[in-house]
Formats: sequence, C-alpha cells, structure tokens
Amino acid sequence: MAGRLSFANITALAPMVRVGTLPMRLLALDYGADVVYCEELIDIKMVQCHRVENEVLQTVDFVAPDDRVMFRTCEKEKQKVVFQMGTADPERALTVARLVEKDVAAIDVNMGCPKEYSTKGGMGAALLSDPDKVEAILRKLVGGVSVPVTCKIRILPSLEDTLSLARRIEKTGVAAIAVHGRFKEERPRHPVHCDYIGAVARAVAIPVIANGGSLDLVKTHGDIRAFKEATGSTSVMLARAAMWNPSIFRSAGPLPLHDVMIQYLKYALRYDNHAFNSKYCLCQMLRDKVESVLGKRVQAAQTNRELSDAYGLEDLFKETQKQLEARRDALLSPEWRQDNVITMDGDVTTMALKFQRREYPPQLTPKMFLLEWSRRQKMEQPTYQTVQRAQDRAFQSTVTVEDRKYRSSLWEKSKKFAEQASAVVCLRSLGIPEGRVGAETDAWPQKRKMEDNRDAEEKRKKQTVDADGEPETGGL
Ligand code: FNR
Repeated sequence: MAGRLSFANITALAPMVRVGTLPMRLLALDYGADVVYCEELIDIKMVQCHRVENEVLQTVDFVAPDDRVMFRTCEKEKQKVVFQMGTADPERALTVARLVEKDVAAIDVNMGCPKEYSTKGGMGAALLSDPDKVEAILRKLVGGVSVPVTCKIRILPSLEDTLSLARRIEKTGVAAIAVHGRFKEERPRHPVHCDYIGAVARAVAIPVIANGGSLDLVKTHGDIRAFKEATGSTSVMLARAAMWNPSIFRSAGPLPLHDVMIQYLKYALRYDNHAFNSKYCLCQMLRDKVESVLGKRVQAAQTNRELSDAYGLEDLFKETQKQLEARRDALLSPEWRQDNVITMDGDVTTMALKFQRREYPPQLTPKMFLLEWSRRQKMEQPTYQTVQRAQDRAFQSTVTVEDRKYRSSLWEKSKKFAEQASAVVCLRSLGIPEGRVGAETDAWPQKRKMEDNRDAEEKRKKQTVDADGEPETGGL
C-alpha cells in the first residue's frame, strides 16, 4: 500500500519506557530520526483506554479509566510513529492494535524485555522461548491491521536458535525485525554482539534494525553508519544515545545540550506533557550534571511551570498557557452556549439543567472537577446550600465559589444530584470543562487531573527503577 512506513535504511528512536513520550519523539524527528517508537505500553492497560480527540492540544489521546493519558500522539508524527506494545495474547494484541492503528504508522511487539514484570506475564523476553506464541501474535496482527507490524527481539544463547526464530518471524509477514544484540541475561553495560545481528541480517530478507550500540559504539552521528556496517544491517535503532542527547540524529552534528533541553521543554509545554515525565527526561539529559544548580532545580520541580522557571522560560510558559486557554475558549461554540443559556436570579447565576449521571465517568463528578479547579486557583473550597420543597420533596442546591452563587433552576430528586447540578452550572458558566464522557473539550481537565495523581505516579516510578537505573518495564 502506498505510504506504508518503510524500515529499510532508517535510523530510529528506540522504544523506551517513560522516555519515548510525545515530546521526545517529536524532538527526535526534528533532529532527523526517520522513525520513532513510543514507550512500551502493556496490552491489558491499553484495552481499557478510550480514544479521545483532544481538540485543545490537537492530539489524539488514549485515556485510561482513571483518566491517565496512556498514549498521546499527533498529526505531526502520524506517518513515523511506531506503537510498541507488551503482550502475550494474540486476541488482546489485536484489540489494542485496532484501537490505535489509524493514528500510528506501525505496530511493534516487544519480545525482549527481560524484567520480571514482563516475563512473568509471558510477555517480553518470555516470548523468545515460546516461538508458537510469537507466531500466533504476529500472524494475528499482520492479518488484522492495515499498518505494518514489526517486533523487537533479543538474541538467544545459540546462534542457530536465533536464526531459526528470526526466519519464523519473517514468515509471519512482519515488515522488519529489530534485534537488540544482547542475551536475555545481559545488562546494558555488556558489549553488544554485532556478529549475531549480522547473522540475522543475512538470514532474512526483511530489514533488520540493529540495536544495542549506544554505550560504546554510537557516540556521534557518524558512528551510525559504522554500526550499520558492523552489523550488516540496513537500519539502526538508538536508545540511550538518543535519551542522553536526542540531537544525535542530526547529520550536521549534535547541538549543545542546554539548547536541546529547551527545545524538549517547548514540546513538553505545548503538549501538556506530565511534569514528572518531562522532569525524568530532562534528568536523563542532564546525566552527570544532575547535581548542578540547574539539575537541582529540575529535580525539585513539581510542575511544568517550575520546570520552565528552572530554564528561565517563564514567559514561554505563560504564552503557551494563554494559547491553550484561548483555543479551549474558542471551542465552546455559540451553539453550545445557546443550549446552556445563563440567566440571573437576583445575585445567583442560573441555568436550566439536570444532572445526567450517565454523562460522566463513574469515578468523576462535576463537584470533583470544581473542587480541583478551586484548589488550583487557590480559592476557598466551594460550599453547597441545599433546600427541599414540600410538595414533591425535590431538592435544589446553590454553590458558592468566591462569593458568587450558582444553581440550576430545575429541581432534582436527591440532594446529591442537586449539588452536582449546581456544580455543572458553575463550571459551564465559567467555561471550565466538567469531565463529561466523550466531550473532547473535556479532555483538557483530564490532563490536569493527571497532575493530581502525581504522588502515585512518582511512587510508581521510584518502584520501577532498578539498581542499574533501568526501568522495570524497559531494559530490553
Ligand atoms: C529501554 N528499552 C526498551 N526496549 C523496549 O523494547 N521497550 C521499552 O519500552 C524499553 N524501555 C527502555 C527504557 C530505557 C530508559 C532504556 C535505557 C531502555 C531497551 C532499548 O530499547 C534498547 O534495546 C537498549 O537500551 C539497547 O539499545 P542502546 O541503548 O544501546 O541504544
């Protein structure tokens, strides 16, 4: 099919947990990467996600039931981004692949992650010793999606076994195989086995993407060609070299790291990247300078604003926020406003609306959104005053926020619903999204809610970094 992503003669950004999020992928593309892999995303988590077109950020988000954005992508990378998944189940793999296929250029399966987290579920490197499963997953994907399918493997202890696995993989119809030239037990510090990669490249006709050279073989852009030659591969995939300085992809030579970090941050702000993720990536770039004055400020930062301040980008932060807010306002169309006519009843702002429980996700309510918003604005907590009328025992609630009152003119069957309705009136009349299911403009606060989950997120990150500084879910 015309326009299908080719894996021949490419230099790719390797899949990397936490590193391979949208800002890093876009930056790698700017610097010259031909293909960018996202971080590995586990099928069990992805199947629960729903696809949201985020009109404010102009992205497509795959959002988990707890409102975490698991995968964010955009038009700019659509022809170049490979979605990597962790899976041990052909059916589930296909469900996930179909969920994302129209937003990505290819689908990859991680068959090399040696971490227990992956292998105990039969994923990652566990697949290397189950070629029937490998074949079943890849055949299912190749037959079930319209985009190219690839996989990323490690080498097996015997060269013969490695080659026979590669030949079997080729027969499934995949477009390419990425080979990380290390055995399952080897750590990233061990030398890469270029001879094994070379043997695979000779054994199959499809492109082989050589991987594993960052530590000692690929230090500059010029080394990429040497690594290709050493491995007999047409293509190369870089992980750590790109994580330390994404401008490794520049044929004109790398840029000063400070400039690269600023470009990274610009993308992070533009795409409302989670501050803890941005911080992680910046710390990888700072490397041994993480204890410098700048490094300490980056480490201490809790928000995108604080990260921007650390780099002297306060104005850029404000400007980006202003642009995003303006886009959000523009999205509140005149038609939408007409359906939500605001009238004043004395000093109370009113709208005629009922709270529709089914319009909101189970764990989110407008009251929660309003509370979260007021906290962010450093306002007093909203207060609710509810009355019940005698004739039908129905309820009506008035919420006060910053001395302003809001309520629905329609009465509700319960106190709880009446409070929610008044919260909706407040949020709508102030133009703050309220978290309704399927309302694209509501994707915006979902990202904000993510920041509230940051303690949990931080905890998770601490747990998933092992002694080598390698994440549990990565390290292939
Ligand atoms: C990885 N790696 C990895 N591999 C993979 O298939 N999926 C993933 O999500 C991850 N995650 C990940 C995170 C981080 C921080 C690192 C450093 C590595 C492995 C990576 O893609 C690559 O195979 C190895 O790092 C070897 O390549 P380099 O680093 O020598 O270029």
